[in-house]
Parts: sequence; structure tokens; C-alpha cells
Amino acid sequence: MAHFDVRSSELPLKEIPGDLGLPILGPISDRYNYNYFQGHTEFIKSHMEEYNSTIFRMNILPGEFVNVPDPKVIVLADAVSFPILFDHSKVEKKDLIVGTYVPSTSFTGGYKVSGYLDPSDEKHGKLKSLFIGLFASIHHKTIPVSQKYFATLFDNLDSDVAAKGQASFNTYSDNMIFELLLHVFYNIDPAKLGNKGSSMIRKWLFVQFHPIITIGLPKWLSWIEDTLLHTFPCPSFLVKSDYQKIYDAIYASSTPVFDEAKKLGLSKEETCHNLVFMSGANAYAGLRPLFHGLMEWLYLGGEKLHKELAKEIRAVVKSEDGVVTLVSVEKMKLTKSVVFEIFRMEPAAPHQYARAREDMVISSHNASYQVKKGEVLFGYQLLAMRDPLIFENPNEFRGTRFMGEEGEKLLKHAYWSNERQTVDPTADNKQCAGKDSYYC
Ligand code: HEM
Repeated sequence: MAHFDVRSSELPLKEIPGDLGLPILGPISDRYNYNYFQGHTEFIKSHMEEYNSTIFRMNILPGEFVNVPDPKVIVLADAVSFPILFDHSKVEKKDLIVGTYVPSTSFTGGYKVSGYLDPSDEKHGKLKSLFIGLFASIHHKTIPVSQKYFATLFDNLDSDVAAKGQASFNTYSDNMIFELLLHVFYNIDPAKLGNKGSSMIRKWLFVQFHPIITIGLPKWLSWIEDTLLHTFPCPSFLVKSDYQKIYDAIYASSTPVFDEAKKLGLSKEETCHNLVFMSGANAYAGLRPLFHGLMEWLYLGGEKLHKELAKEIRAVVKSEDGVVTLVSVEKMKLTKSVVFEIFRMEPAAPHQYARAREDMVISSHNASYQVKKGEVLFGYQLLAMRDPLIFENPNEFRGTRFMGEEGEKLLKHAYWSNERQTVDPTADNKQCAGKDSYYC
């Protein structure tokens, strides 16, 4: 990333703007404005305008009694500064997957799982290699198994529309995804968890991450939501029995991952807790909003786009004798561009964090800023992906944006997988391990 250093010497060096307010009141005020009164994006946008800068300071404190080591963060909301989050020689990723809040390890059997580990940690590399190996070993069945689950989902939607005149894609999708993941990853029949795997994992996610969740009650009820969700973290025993059932199902499965883990010196217990976290917190929590966004933006894309997509997909599938494979998906240029454009408009994992390993200078388009060792960087992806100096008419949904020579050049500015779309996940980076094997 020498890019930053070269540019930073040519740009004016400025103090990072941002008024953090008084010690206790400042974090409370930022929390209410960010979560409720303004909402996330308006809060960030209004501060960008106020400070005339895409880099500024704010407080992120989930709640008064929720222990976080550092509530002060530096926001990065443009496409130029954002990739510093991927430069592991300059930033550390330990304990930062969901911000400065870290749930108790009692949610994951007492282990600190891979999502919280820095790539410099040997264990991260071993676990990430296991995941990448797992996805490679199942790639032949990912599409056929998914087709089966989606066929059932759409049959259910059709039946509901026929019976009631309406149907909820999100409800069916939320309940289907985790079962699909358990089936495709570990060959677990949904009946093994009484067809309740998805609701079990949702409970586990909620109880673990509620201090950083907002559920969107009306503004006048925000103090109730804030008090209930953000005052104290809930104990893990509330979801222990659901977690144990999922853990036991994976533990008893025939996945070859356990043999590979043994070769790497990892215990079956630790591997299994990591598999639950990967399947539930990485994969399910990533795919759930992704499918909501896909449906919403496809609908908003309009009839003309729907016809063009249908034409392209049908032509490619026909040319491949009716079989959909990852290779045939590669040939669907418009379809891929539409999916990327949806990721850009509504990133499924919209916030990324990292801690400066050393004093350094970070540049936006028009200024450089001194960052001190230990300071936490908070990448606001939704606005970085709508940087007007990179993406023309950034708030407009353009299905063809990533097509053709010029469109493909934009992929190096696409950060939804926690790296550039042009980079691949490895044991040494923190890029989404599911990037190529599952969703893009
Ligand atoms: C089958 C689906 C998925 C699987 C198996 C998966 C797996 C993973 C794993 C294992 C990691 C941790 C990487 C590491 O520690 O080095 C990760 C991180 C990540 N994934 Fe995914 N993921 C999936 C879906 C998604 C989706 C749909 C998105 C959003 C488009 C997404 C975005 C991310 C991001 C942003 C991170 C980095 C989080 C951070 O460290 O800040 N993932 N994923």
C-alpha cells in the first residue's frame, strides 16, 4: 500500500477533526444521535459536512456499563482511506470484528474464535486455511444444494401468494439460510435440529451482540430500546442449550475438517466452536442481510432489468445444457454486475474496524492526517462505496456499473469482502473466506 505514503506527502497534513464532547456525555450524545436521532448514515454524513472531511473522530460506546477498551474511533468514509484497514503491516485486527465491543468467550465454549484473531496469530492462519479448504472441498455441491433449498423457498412463496395474496421472502429466507449452510458445509439434515436451526442461531447471535444492535423502534421509544439493549451484556447461559445442540450436530457430522484440524494440531473441540462461529456469525449473519438486500434492489431495478437478467441467465444455462455451475455464473456478466452493484448500494457487512500498529499518516482524496499507534479506525463502508470521486452518480443503482473494461476497473474499489474484490482470501489476510466459494 505504498500508494498512501506517496500521496500523503503531496497533500496538506491536517489535524483529524471531531468534537468528542465531555467524558460521559459525549459518548451518550454520539450514541443517541448515531443510533436513533439521526441514524447511522445521516450522522456520518452530517459530520463529514460539518468538518469538511471524510476522516473525523467520533465516540462509539455501546452503553455506559458495556465494557469496551476504547470508545473513541476515527471514521474513514471515502474509498481512498478505507483500504488502510486491509494493510496488515500497518493495522491490527485482533478483537475488532464487530467494533471495540467483544462478547464473552463463554458464547463460544471459552475459546477466542478466528474472527477475533489477527492474521499474525498462527492460529488464525490454521483456522482460515481449514475454512478455505472446506469451501474448496464442497464447491461441487454448493450450487445444487442451494438450488434445492431455493426451489422449496419459492414454492412456499407461490403457495402463500395463491392462498393469501402475499408472501414474505425475508421470513422464509431467514429460516432457510442456516439450514442450507449446515447441509452444504457438514451434510446435516435440518430435522436433526428439529428444523429450528435458524431460530436457534438467531437467538445466539442476538444475545451475544445485542449491545451493538438497534432494532429500529420509533424515535420516541429509543430510550427504552437503548436501556434494554445497551446497558448490560446478557449472559451466555440464556442461549447455552441452543448453542450446544448446534455444536453437537456439527461435532457429530462427518466433515473431513476435523481430520485436517488434527493434522494442524487443533483439538476437535476448538475446531468445532470455530465452525459454529464461522457458520453462524460469519456466514449466516452475512448472508441474511445480503438476501434481503438482493430481493429489495432487484425489485427496485425494475421490469427492464428483470427481463435482461432473465434473458442472460436463460441463455447461459441453455448453453451449459441446463446445468448451473460456478463457471457458468462467471459468464453471466450482467448478473454479476447487478450483484456487485447491490453489494455497493447496501453492503451486508457495512462496518470494518482496525487498530493502528504504529504512528502513521492516512490520506483521503484531499488531505492527510496523523494517526497515533493504538488508535481505532472505523471504516464506514456504505459511504466509501458511494464515494462520488470514484463512483459516478454514486446514489444511483446502475445494474451495468461493473460491466466492460471501465466497469471492471472499479472492482479494485469494491471492499465488501473486507478486501478489494480483485484480491483473494488467504490464511494471511482477514478477507471473507466465503468470497469466491459462495457469494461472489
Ligand atoms: C457462506 C457465506 C460466508 C462465509 C462462509 C463467510 C466466511 C467468513 C470468514 C471465515 C471470515 C473471517 C475471515 C478471517 O478471520 O480472516 C469472514 C469475514 C468477513 N466476511 Fe464473510 N462469510 C460469508 C458471507 C459473507 C457475506 C455475505 C458478506 C458480505 C458481503 C461477508 C463479509 C465479510 C466481511 C466484511 C468479513 C471481515 C470481518 C472483519 O474482520 O471485519 N461475508 N467471512
